[in-house]
Amino acid sequence: MNCDSVEMAGLRGKVHQQETVCIFGTGDFGRSLGLRLLQSGYQVVYGSRDPKNSLLLPEGSKVMAHEAAACEARVIFLAVQREHYGFLTPLAPDLEGKVLVDVSNNIRRGIYPESNAEYLTRLVPGADVVLLCGDSSEAKHLVVNIAQSLGFCAMDKGSLRAAADLEDLPLQLFPLWRLPFSIAIALVAFCFFYVLTRDVIYERVTTGKDNAFRIMVSLANKAFPIVALVMLALCYLPGALAGFLQLYNGTKYRRFPDWLDRWMLCRKQLGLLALAFAFLHVLYTLVIPIRYYVRYRINVYTLSLVKDNATYEFDNVAAWRYDSYFSMGILGFGLFVLLGITSLPSVSNSLNWREFRFIQSKLGYLTLLLCTAHTFLYGWDKFLKPYKWWLPPAYMLSLVVPCVVLILKLILLTPCMDRKITRIRQGWERQSGI
Ligand code: HEM
Repeated sequence: MNCDSVEMAGLRGKVHQQETVCIFGTGDFGRSLGLRLLQSGYQVVYGSRDPKNSLLLPEGSKVMAHEAAACEARVIFLAVQREHYGFLTPLAPDLEGKVLVDVSNNIRRGIYPESNAEYLTRLVPGADVVLLCGDSSEAKHLVVNIAQSLGFCAMDKGSLRAAADLEDLPLQLFPLWRLPFSIAIALVAFCFFYVLTRDVIYERVTTGKDNAFRIMVSLANKAFPIVALVMLALCYLPGALAGFLQLYNGTKYRRFPDWLDRWMLCRKQLGLLALAFAFLHVLYTLVIPIRYYVRYRINVYTLSLVKDNATYEFDNVAAWRYDSYFSMGILGFGLFVLLGITSLPSVSNSLNWREFRFIQSKLGYLTLLLCTAHTFLYGWDKFLKPYKWWLPPAYMLSLVVPCVVLILKLILLTPCMDRKITRIRQGWERQSGI
């Protein structure tokens, strides 16, 4: 994690003006690392197979053969691919007692039986290999110092046995998105099948009517908003559960169960996916007035009124209801977009902790409340209509999780609960036996 500006790194680097760091490898990575080290006040020496033809190296650095370069510094960064580590075997005596920093990653997981760093230790047994894990605490300390003067926060990940996991880190494919994606796919599949059964299969079986055309817009515009609402609620459910757990434990210092931890960690991804589904719902809603089916129904109805010489009575309650549910939907969607924007690192980094919490927690719950109210008003009296094959309308199912979350939050907001949880979060602990 880059935690400081390069200028800061440069200022701190003045302390290291005399220290020399060696880099084996004059490729892109080696050059960038060397430039940053020079900017931070280190002397940089490159070790190369072909020093005369090593071009484009940063100004101020030196380049020499591997053996000579190794003699110049205690810390040596290895900026070459694992396939080329062979050149280190004859250098082993020169590398005795040196700190070898392996910065390599592989292109695929599991292609080698051991991590690159462990392989390196086998090739050069006399050197201390560090990846910011390593078996020598002194060697790790040296590398942590360099990383800090380059403006990075180094994290010690333990012994060299952790190397394989560290090397695989850049190869992970959206690890935090896996659970939210799985939830979204499961919810979409369930909702789609549910509304397909109610709106298409039921009609076909009981009345012989072919409603299959509704799959494209109507059913999609039922499944997507339901998934959006449920996933939005799922972002806030773990926080509410964590509050109750802290009340039950009487402390904030006991670890949450692993499943709750994992759930809390992917709330942002859950929220962004929910926002994507809400976007789809809004887009599908925009095309409702131009749908062939909708225009057909309006024309037939208007013609029937003309034929019967009847008038279309203005229904004040319906007008209120429609306007209210649209308004709740629009306000909810507006706040939802704001939540999405403020969860982006470039925006959230510009907010202080209180501002971020206000938006993500207070406005987040308000968003959930508005979207739930939107769905309630949309449903209105639909729940009174006879169920099809005992299946209630889909919107009713979508309200279960949001209502649970809002009720839990309401309970946590009651003065006695709120007082207790605030004390716990400030560090108070219940004495056992009381
Ligand atoms: C239903 C409009 C935002 C959740 C509907 C329907 C409309 C609508 C017209 C009825 C669809 C139909 O007849 O099939 C809007 C507008 C929005 C908005 C204009 C904002 C610009 C949202 C948001 C959520 C949401 C942000 C949730 C996160 C729902 C749900 C239903 C629904 C769950 C019921 C779906 C069903 O079972 O048929 N909305 N909506 N809406 N909307 Fe929205």
